[in-house]
Order: sequence, then C-alpha cells, then structure tokens
Amino acid sequence: MPKDKKNKDAIKEKIKEKLKQLSEEEPNRDDSTRESTQEEKTEEVEEKIDVPTDTESAELEEPNSEVSSSEASEEPKVEIVDEQPKEEEKRKMKVPLLANYSFESENIPISVKIVKLGDFVPRYEITTPTVDAWTRKMLESKLRGELVSEVKLDISEILDPKKFDEVKAKFMEGARRIIDRNFKEQLPDPRARNILSVYLLQNTLGLGKLESLLADEQLEEIVINNSQEPIWVYHKRAGWCKSNILLESEEQIYDYASTIARKIGRQINILNPTLDAHLPTGDRVNATLFPISQFGNTLTIRKFSKNPWTITTLIKSATVSPEVAALIWLCMQNELSLLVTGGTGSGKTSFLNAISAFIPANQRIISIEDTRELTLPKFLQWVPMVVREANPEGKGEITMLDLMINALRMRPDRIIVGEIRRQREAEILFEAMHTGHSVYATLHADNTEQTISRLTNPPINIPPQMLDALSGVVVTFRHRRFNIRRVLEFSEILKKGEFNVLHRWTIKEAGEGFTDKIKQISKMTRLTEQLSLYAGMDDREIADNVAEKVSVLKWMVKQGYESVDQVGRIVSNYYVDPDGVLEVVKKNQSWNFDE
Ligand SMILES: Nc1ncnc2c1ncn2[C@@H]1O[C@H](COP(=O)(O)OP(=O)(O)O)[C@@H](O)[C@H]1O
Ligand SMILES: [Mg+2]
Repeated sequence: MPKDKKNKDAIKEKIKEKLKQLSEEEPNRDDSTRESTQEEKTEEVEEKIDVPTDTESAELEEPNSEVSSSEASEEPKVEIVDEQPKEEEKRKMKVPLLANYSFESENIPISVKIVKLGDFVPRYEITTPTVDAWTRKMLESKLRGELVSEVKLDISEILDPKKFDEVKAKFMEGARRIIDRNFKEQLPDPRARNILSVYLLQNTLGLGKLESLLADEQLEEIVINNSQEPIWVYHKRAGWCKSNILLESEEQIYDYASTIARKIGRQINILNPTLDAHLPTGDRVNATLFPISQFGNTLTIRKFSKNPWTITTLIKSATVSPEVAALIWLCMQNELSLLVTGGTGSGKTSFLNAISAFIPANQRIISIEDTRELTLPKFLQWVPMVVREANPEGKGEITMLDLMINALRMRPDRIIVGEIRRQREAEILFEAMHTGHSVYATLHADNTEQTISRLTNPPINIPPQMLDALSGVVVTFRHRRFNIRRVLEFSEILKKGEFNVLHRWTIKEAGEGFTDKIKQISKMTRLTEQLSLYAGMDDREIADNVAEKVSVLKWMVKQGYESVDQVGRIVSNYYVDPDGVLEVVKKNQSWNFDE
C-alpha cells in the first residue's frame, strides 16, 4: 500500500473513532444544542487532520496529500451561511434566544446568536463562512508563504504603527492576486474568493480566529484563559458568555500574543512572560504565559469602542434631557469646569466622552486615562495620554499623577481626566482649575452630596473653599431593575462646598403614576453669575441661548447625527457661525458634511 494511502486510512479511522466517542459523551442534550455542539466538535476533528501525529504524515509536503477523509474533496468549498436563522428553525429552537444579529466585516457576512443553555453562562455563537479543511491547509501551508514573499515592504512600513492601514491594504491586494491565480476557475463567485482572500490575510497579518470577534462591536472584552476552554466574551447586553470558538493549542495563543507584541515593537517570551499593551487601534491587550498563568497561556483584549456614546445618542435614549445637555454645552463653551460622578458602570466615562465634543476647536486638549476610552472629534487639537505600568524589573512606570503634572507643562486649555481616585490626583486637578484651566473628570460617588463629601473628607481631603473652582456636577445613574441609565442630577457648586441641585431625574410622582423625566427643581444662581461674568449674558440671554442650543440638539437627534465627528462638526460650525447653523436647524434641513 502506498505510504500516503496508508496514512490517509489511519487518519480516517481516527476520525471515526473520535466521532463515536463524542456521540457517546453527549447523550442527552436537546436537538438545538446538539446541532451547535456538533459543529464545534466537527471542527475539532478537522483540526486533528491538520496536525499529523505520526512521523510519516509529518513528511508530507503537498497540501492536497494531507487531507484524507473521503468527504474532503480537492475542490475548494466555501460555504456562506444564511445571515438570519429561518423562521422554522427559530420555532424549533427551544432555548431562549438572548440576541440574534448579523453584521459584515471586510464584506463577509457574520451572524451571532446568544442562547441560554443549561450552563451557568449564556453561549455566544458566532457563524462565519466556513472554508473546508483542504483549502484551509492549502492557504496556511502554501499560500501564506507566497503572500509574505509577494508583498514587498520596506522596514519603515513594518515598524511604523501609523502605516498599519497601508500595510494591510498591500497585503489584501496581494492576497486577492494569489487567490485569483489559484482559485479563479474553481470558484467563479467573487464573494467566495473574497472570503478566501480575507482568510489568508487574517491568518498572515491578523489574529486568525479572533478577527470575527474583534469585528463584533457588541463585544467589550475577548478573553482566552487557556486552550482547553472556549474563548470567553463580554457582550454589551448579555454580559459574560462562553463562545463557540476553541483554539487548537497553547502555541496558537502564544502566536497571537507574539503577533500583537511584534506589532508594537515588543516581545513576549519565557523571560518576559507578561505583556500589557495598547494597540494603535486603541484596544488594550494583556497576555501571560504558562506557568505564570497556571492553567495555560492567556490573552485579554479590551476592545476600544468605535462608536462611542454621543450627546445625540444620550438624548435619544433619554439618558439626558435636551435642556440639561444644552446647559452643560453652555458651561463647556464658557470654560467652566465640571465633574461627572456616579456608580461603577453608570455611564460616567461615556457621558464625559459625549460632552467633550462641546470643546471649541481652537483650544488645546490633553486627556489622561488609565485605559484609553475617550474618542474626540478628529479635527480637535487633542493629545490623548495613557498611563504605563512598570516593566518586569519594576521600572518605567508612568502614573496618572505623573501625567497630570506633565500635562500642566504642555500648555493645555482643557484637561480631561478619566477617573480621579487618589488624593494627589484630586489636588492637582483642583490646582489646575485654580490656575485657569478648565477641567473635566469622573469620580465614583452616588449623588452630588456624596461627591462633595468624598472630595472634602479623608482620604481625598480637598479644603471646601478649593471646590469653588468647580462649577457643576453631573451625576449618572444606572437603574438596575429597568437596566436604564439616566442623569440623576445636575448641580451647581456654590461657595465652600455647598451645592444646589438644578435638575433631577424622577421616576414616580404622586398622582402622575409612572414618570421617567429629568425635571428642573430649582433656579440656578452661581452658574448665572459665572456665565454673566464669562459670557457677558444676563438671565434672559442665558435662557435664550439654552433654548437655541436645545433646538440644535433636537435637530441633531431628528437628523440622526450620531457619530462623534458629526456632532463635533455641527458644534464647531455653531461656534464659528451660529446664525448659519440655526437657519438650517429652523428649516429642519440636513447638514452638508461634504463641504
Ligand atoms: N446612556 C447609556 N445607556 C445605555 N448604556 C450605556 C449608557 N452609557 C454608558 N453605557 C454603557 O454602560 C457601560 C459602562 O459605561 P461607562 O461609561 O464605562 O461607565 P463608568 O465610566 O461609569 O464605569 C458601557 O458598556 C457603556 O456602553
Ligand atoms: Mg469609567
């Protein structure tokens, strides 16, 4: 018997055995779960084909001799899965469906289902077009090498993170050429060839199996604990879920970690077994190697939100009223300092991000964060800075405090601080306010009273008279039972740490039944003083200006201008030519963003 044939038969036997074993292991799951389990398990078996276990098969060079089961033909097969489950299938599904959506990444359809199974956590099932094992092998063992040698890059391109998009485009072009050369006849459908090109690209330059997860904007975190467990994900609505993606080996996790490290000119290896890095995309990555992490290599990716909350989306979701948003806008226009406070996960950072778009374009902004979360309009003069942890020798740490002290030497007009936690940070923050900077920051506190109390008591201990430099406090709040987020209070700060709540969210009022409104509960006094001082406006003019801004905000909501740049563009145009903007608003016309 020829060596190849013998080898193929042996592997075929192994697959059969494995399948049998699997069907015995999973005897009493219901249909819907079995369907998905099988998908996963089949994949596992396929992977086994790719990794020959005996020395004979390891010698095989040609990709087409490595695949062996009788179903694996030597024709490429690309299966594009339906984006939505069929009605019938939906009805058949006995398990509660927590989410079901689809999106495209690199023109490839991807669909996601989140189901609640018998497990403690929901299961996140992502479906991408499948490429058969033979074609995958061909791509990975042969065409990947071709792609690397075909795309000519010079060293400056490889090392410059800013050139990543260019490098990627070059690789994509190369991948398309190679795929067309090899598969044009067998795969006349350009969509199928696109899938192969993207597969090739993602497995050469990118993070292979992780790419589709990275493309899902509903995910906040992607976590690999080791190669035995499926990848975990943190979904915006469903929280922690187990995904249907399993990695092949510890080496694969290590490969991903080193690919990431290389991109930013760092290394991860036995001597430096941890990596903590910010990618040029804003994502934050942490990797640790066995045996530092005892169960295996880990990878934690905290995804950077590409579509952050804007004032438009916050008004639309009733998180803030247009009136409060307009008042905050007026405060920011006139360089008054504000704090956004609230509980963990109440939406402080999101709110801070949204109101940052009110900063005029002729001012210099420095932001300081632990992890980069903020996104400001592209055209602002903005220097985002993030802290750095110490290296394994305990050197090179850059703290929030270091950055805040440094920021004051960078001639900023506005300073945005992600979160204030310690005394020295708060001291520097208030010093910055007292030296004429406008400052915006978040702080953990449940309401205005607690905000003042936290600031003026140990361990932060700011003298109450120092608080004069602060003009207002926005309190964000998450109602756990209804899972809604609201601005609970907007308060002005009076002298010596006194305060006055101007607007408050009410959920129920006697006689009115259920209400969900942010209502004005008192008249502003100190803010009026400050605004008349800075903007030269009297009471009447302030009220008119707020009303004007309310009309602009409502118009933006109506027109659906929800991106950071759209909001920023309108705000900046309003500063330069308010009448021009108001005319468009009054006529309810759309804005020409191309100009
Ligand atoms: N107004 C809102 N409505 C719904 N979800 C929100 C809102 N604001 C923020 N979120 C979501 O809540 C989570 C926590 O928000 P974040 O701003 O980071 O909170 P914090 O800074 O208070 O910890 C994020 O997933 C964010 O997308
Ligand atoms: Mg935050």
